[in-house]
Amino acid sequence: MNKIRETWGSKIGVILAVAGSAIGLGNFLRFPVQAAKNGGGAFIIPYLISLVLLGIPLMWIEWTLGRFGGGFGHGTAPGMFHNIANKNRFIKYFGVIGIFGPIVIFTYYTYIESWLLGYSFYSLTGKLGLCQDQVSMVSFLKGYQGLEKNQFFSSIIPAYIFFIITFFINIITISGGIQKGIERVCKYGLPVLFILGIILMIRVLTLSPIYPQHPDWTPVNGLGFLWNPDFSALLSAKVWLAAAGQIFFTLSVGIGVILTYASYLKKTDDVILSGLTAAATNEWAEVVLGGSIAITSAFLFFGPQGIKDVASGGAFNLGFVAIPLTLNHISYGFLFGFFWFILLFIAGVTSSISLAQPAIAFLEDEFDFDRKKAVGVFTILTFVLCNLSVFLLGKGFVDEMDFWGGTFALVLFGTIEAILFSWVFGIDKAWDEMHAGSDIKLPVFYRFVIKYITPCFLILILIFWFIQEAKDVILMKNVPSEIFSYIVFCRFILFLLLSVIAWMVHIAWKKKEKV
Ligand code: ALA
Repeated sequence: MNKIRETWGSKIGVILAVAGSAIGLGNFLRFPVQAAKNGGGAFIIPYLISLVLLGIPLMWIEWTLGRFGGGFGHGTAPGMFHNIANKNRFIKYFGVIGIFGPIVIFTYYTYIESWLLGYSFYSLTGKLGLCQDQVSMVSFLKGYQGLEKNQFFSSIIPAYIFFIITFFINIITISGGIQKGIERVCKYGLPVLFILGIILMIRVLTLSPIYPQHPDWTPVNGLGFLWNPDFSALLSAKVWLAAAGQIFFTLSVGIGVILTYASYLKKTDDVILSGLTAAATNEWAEVVLGGSIAITSAFLFFGPQGIKDVASGGAFNLGFVAIPLTLNHISYGFLFGFFWFILLFIAGVTSSISLAQPAIAFLEDEFDFDRKKAVGVFTILTFVLCNLSVFLLGKGFVDEMDFWGGTFALVLFGTIEAILFSWVFGIDKAWDEMHAGSDIKLPVFYRFVIKYITPCFLILILIFWFIQEAKDVILMKNVPSEIFSYIVFCRFILFLLLSVIAWMVHIAWKKKEKV
């Protein structure tokens, strides 16, 4: 393991890369839907508490574990866990989830990202502007996704072309490596994203009510919908689960990607302030930009009850239906629509490249592949899986992948990391490791949070999930019969992927033991 690993070019570069990984579709599509569905002000309190007690501690845990593992030449969880657990033979296998999760998310995330490129194009050309009501906007989306043939689309070919372009933008970026690929794209992408976000936010917040009969559907009341706290939700387990899940997804913690990014830090690089800055940047993008643009514009069109109904109707209804509808009703709507979708596309790319990196780092670090070969293997594998997402979208394939790879795996992996960090590595060593090279010192309150609160909170979430949902999910109780076989097929693919990664971990360590 004497290979020289890549490093980040600058401190701002790594912060922007981690912020770029965090700021993604989760901020602009998922957050508004979760917030609206769960009652706006009722969601925001559990959300903020989860940020402080789960999100930020896990961010620090992952930056610290990543930098620590990188020092031993490991950029992914198996090697990192192996080293913090005194080379225990079994613990490295928990790390398999940290490679599996990002691959699974990548395979549907990239496809959804490509819709944004398509929608940017159709906003500019005016085709999207033809949709002036909810019904036509929904049929535009279904036609684009290839779920129906209609006046807008007669096949999935346009969507497939945008998917191919998006897929290769990702592959070309990651082929460039850490500094010349990922860091460079984030350094240019994030400022553009923020400028577009601020322009859109100002435009949306200065809009007048759309309907004369609803003068109170104003931007200010839209903001109130999100920010007027509703303490009754503190007793709802469902809202807590939704809020904690959103924190994981949006910060990119529990996935495995921050571990990998942090493995390219130098031993003396700060992790505490940098991790906090990346998390704060993400939250700013999520609640200030995502919250105000998406929630406010949907509120103007649908009002306080309608926005909840629209959000509950589907994960893409706010981003791909409600917002373009509002923007279609203002002057230069095509341009603002383009800004919205291209902003989302940039946010998506800076996240999906981070989802690709763990698998590539695993092949480079544990199998000594050069980057070209590692990217080649990754391209073939994910191209096949992405195609399943493209063609089996209507069969529940993407939702199933998102549940196991994008929700369950995150919480499970976060719990494992939190326990290993504080209880196996040991909080004393962990605390010292966190503070090595640090620009600031954390209050001791956080030592208590990291040791007790974060792991207990996570274990409780898992216990609640097992009690309330596990049986039905595992036995596929709510799966409609017409898609049953596709869901079984999806689970088989996921199981196969997980097994192959576990087997590769086994082979890699067997080889190391021989040397
Ligand atoms: N953190 C990324 C997002 O929010 C995955 O989209």
